[in-house]
Amino acid sequence: MKEVKIETILKVYNSLGELPNDIQQLMEFAINARENAYAPYSKFKVGAAILLDNKEVVIGSNQENASYPSGLCAERTAIYYAGAKHPNAKILKMALTASSQNQVTDFPIPPCGACRQAISEYEIKQDQPIEIYFMGATGKVVKSNSLANLLPLGFDRSFL
Ligand code: THU
Repeated sequence: MKEVKIETILKVYNSLGELPNDIQQLMEFAINARENAYAPYSKFKVGAAILLDNKEVVIGSNQENASYPSGLCAERTAIYYAGAKHPNAKILKMALTASSQNQVTDFPIPPCGACRQAISEYEIKQDQPIEIYFMGATGKVVKSNSLANLLPLGFDRSFL
């Protein structure tokens, strides 16, 4: 038997203002996208913005449904849109923000497990890390240098 230690290194910024301008701009896209979330059931709005290597920005927001599992998270709405519209572009950076009608989200809110799996597919496909920045509505912002860093022991095509 041996023990294996898995480490994740993240950067935590005190506020969006501490980040470089291009990230602040990308997060602004995510904040605007968040406002267009369709979240009448959870009242939890999420916005995502993706910067591609062709300089295009693709956005997404969560889209809910009366049949709850039919809805989709902001991250997957955005990344599937990017894959559909710009199939050959590489994804450089992703900015995520979430707000709730039930509480002030002044803490970083990470992407859910299903979204991490979906983003992981594209990171592996393009063989280049995707920087992920996530926050609540205000407050600290977390940066991960890659999706892999957020999904230890991921399942990927090499197992198939
Ligand atoms: N949601 C996202 O959009 N992204 C996540 O990573 C977590 C959850 C959405 C799904 C649902 O519309 C609402 O937030 C509450 O779970």
